[in-house]
Amino acid sequence: MSILIKNGRVVTTEADFIADIYVEGEKIMAIGKELSYSADRVIDASGKLVMPGGIDPHVHLDMPFMGTFSSDDYTTGTRAALHGGTTMVIDFILQTQGDSLHNALAAWQGRASGTAVGDYSFHMAVTDFNDEVAKEVVQFIEEEGITSFKTFMAYKGALMIDDGQMVQLMQVVRDKGGLVTVHATNGDMIDSLISQHRSEGKLAPLYHYLSQPEVTEAEASARFTDMLHYTGCPGYIVHMTCEGALNAVRLATQRNQKVFVETCTQYLLLDASLYERNFEGAKWVMSPPLRKKKDQTALWAGINQGLIQVLGTDHCPFMWEQKKMGENDFSKIPNGHPGIEHRMELLFSEGVATGRISLQKYVEITSTNAAKIFGMFPRKGTLAIGSDADILIFDPQKRHSISAQSHHMNVDYSAYEGWEVKGKSEIVILRGQVAIEDGACHIQPGYGQFIKRGKTSLVV
Ligand code: URP
Ligand code: ZN
Ligand code: ZN
Repeated sequence: MSILIKNGRVVTTEADFIADIYVEGEKIMAIGKELSYSADRVIDASGKLVMPGGIDPHVHLDMPFMGTFSSDDYTTGTRAALHGGTTMVIDFILQTQGDSLHNALAAWQGRASGTAVGDYSFHMAVTDFNDEVAKEVVQFIEEEGITSFKTFMAYKGALMIDDGQMVQLMQVVRDKGGLVTVHATNGDMIDSLISQHRSEGKLAPLYHYLSQPEVTEAEASARFTDMLHYTGCPGYIVHMTCEGALNAVRLATQRNQKVFVETCTQYLLLDASLYERNFEGAKWVMSPPLRKKKDQTALWAGINQGLIQVLGTDHCPFMWEQKKMGENDFSKIPNGHPGIEHRMELLFSEGVATGRISLQKYVEITSTNAAKIFGMFPRKGTLAIGSDADILIFDPQKRHSISAQSHHMNVDYSAYEGWEVKGKSEIVILRGQVAIEDGACHIQPGYGQFIKRGKTSLVV
């Protein structure tokens, strides 16, 4: 199969010009003016943006969590991602405490392999570190192509590791050239505030928010960067929400540390006033919670200052019936919300179309930086000769609105119901195949491949 994309505005982090792209098999073979290849398919991209397919490095598909499973599996989740222009996702394998990393890997491979529509990889979440796990970490980096290790400083008794385990993990990962990533919040303080609120009969979703004040994230982010500094390990903070946490990273960069930061669409666009809607607030019960408007301002600035390099979603959807598990107690509401499908369109609309960020910054934070940080560049995350032909053809003028009635995620509400968006993902190509066109998916479950990853190549 070959495809010739004509006259698009080709945008990468280095370039922005009108050109043609020729794709043969799974790869980009040529980029230039007036290419004259005879192709099986010619696509006229005049007036359209042609960008690298999006990479969402933070999703939870078919994940066992809080007594249930997230409602998108690898088929529905990666397909919804493709509809929105995201061609690859990175999910999280969770080690069961007391069990091995390899057993967890087998369980996650069992759910993803043969079912994913889009490409995927895994971060390995280490929830119980010991000498045996240390050996497995090395094997994951050297043999499995899994080079990033997630840690949780919260969810005690299920996922949280203590600071001693964290430092030991960092030492092993540093020596092998991997990356330690973190959900940075002070788990003990959060647990204590949750107990306090429950004992006072404060059980509405608002108290989820009030149990995780900004200081819990700021403190843990500072502690994490201090441990990175001590060990000399590179690190990555997932789903950063607030000014205090960003300032912790700002300080770390002043002592020349390599700390990467991800924020998520919802933290840029939504705020904590949504928790005042009684139980409807459960739609946005996630950890960390939505914050204040001043935090949104800080995050947008952090993107332009280069302190935040990546936009993820932390997509972890639950049906409304699942959210109702916490109808009488906020601490039982499954944490997470749907976001995988609209990351690219929402950021374009609210970021590029409003002038908050440049088009190049858009490509950087939706695709290229994730590919570099997570060791997939230049195979993924760019439009270059020899790269995978993961291509988003995007109409920057088309207006549409978001609704649970029309989205493709397997969840019966939208976190952005009625949101008006400027810019639409039109044609999405994944490894040389037209995956999305005319609002339909044209590739099958099983087309999505596990992508092995190497070392970080982004320099900060
Ligand atoms: O609320 C969230 N974020 N759920 C998914 C698990 C996590 O902490 O990322
Ligand atoms: Zn998290
Ligand atoms: Zn997450």
